[in-house]
Amino acid sequence: MTTDRAVTVQDLTAMRARGERIVMVTAYDAGAAALADEAGVPVLLVGDSLAMVVLGHGTTLPVTLDEMIHHARAVVRGAGRALVVVDLPFGSTQGGPADALRSAVRVLKETGAAAVKLEGGRSVAPTVRTLVEAGIPVMGHVGLTPQSVHALGGYRVQGRGAGAADALVADAVALAEAGAFALVLEAVPSAVGAAVAAASPVPVIGIGAGPDVDGQVLVWHDVLGLTSGPTPRFVRAYEDLRGRTTAALRAFAADVRGGAYPGPSESYGE
Ligand code: KIV
Repeated sequence: MTTDRAVTVQDLTAMRARGERIVMVTAYDAGAAALADEAGVPVLLVGDSLAMVVLGHGTTLPVTLDEMIHHARAVVRGAGRALVVVDLPFGSTQGGPADALRSAVRVLKETGAAAVKLEGGRSVAPTVRTLVEAGIPVMGHVGLTPQSVHALGGYRVQGRGAGAADALVADAVALAEAGAFALVLEAVPSAVGAAVAAASPVPVIGIGAGPDVDGQVLVWHDVLGLTSGPTPRFVRAYEDLRGRTTAALRAFAADVRGGAYPGPSESYGE
């Protein structure tokens, strides 16, 4: 989509209606948001993956609402026209609809972002409805929901086995009926991704959900090859910024140690 004005949640509905795939990446700071905007990415997610890829935690669970807000403010400052969606982190919604409403109000009021994302299926539909009735756009998140990693027994592909796909379809429909404007669907077989997208009244943005959904999201560090160690099957790195960054830093260190930096053109005269 090409427009000079800010992207809205209604634009996502329109993109799906005209068969235009939705692109979303995560962002955690102003510089990254500005780059994504320049590249024409219409939706930025301040994911609670912040906990793992930026703050160094082993899961998404430890990140706090205050930390999410701190980074989301930076992303909103850097984003030009992209729609900024902010994850409600673990512990900020589990107290039920009133708890989630307090958290979501803080996010919109303190960051300037336009929407929040909330993990969970049918059980969180009442929470989604409460937020939507308060005028807060909500993106759902079903399939592999990393905030439930301990309950799920690890980061496992979801939607396999008898009844599991039907349950995911029911989750998606319930969230859409509660007013969610879009859904993230994570780590399910492609056939399940296709079934959920076909049944969902709202756009389904996949991450490891195969090609037959309405859009795709990846984590910033994964797209750019900044992640260390093994990555999930669905990750495609479009750069090797980890390799290029360490090479650049090694070259800088060698120049400093060898006295090649700074040279005359990098030094002030009288
Ligand atoms: O936190 C996150 O980065 C996410 C994406 C993986 C969808 O929720």
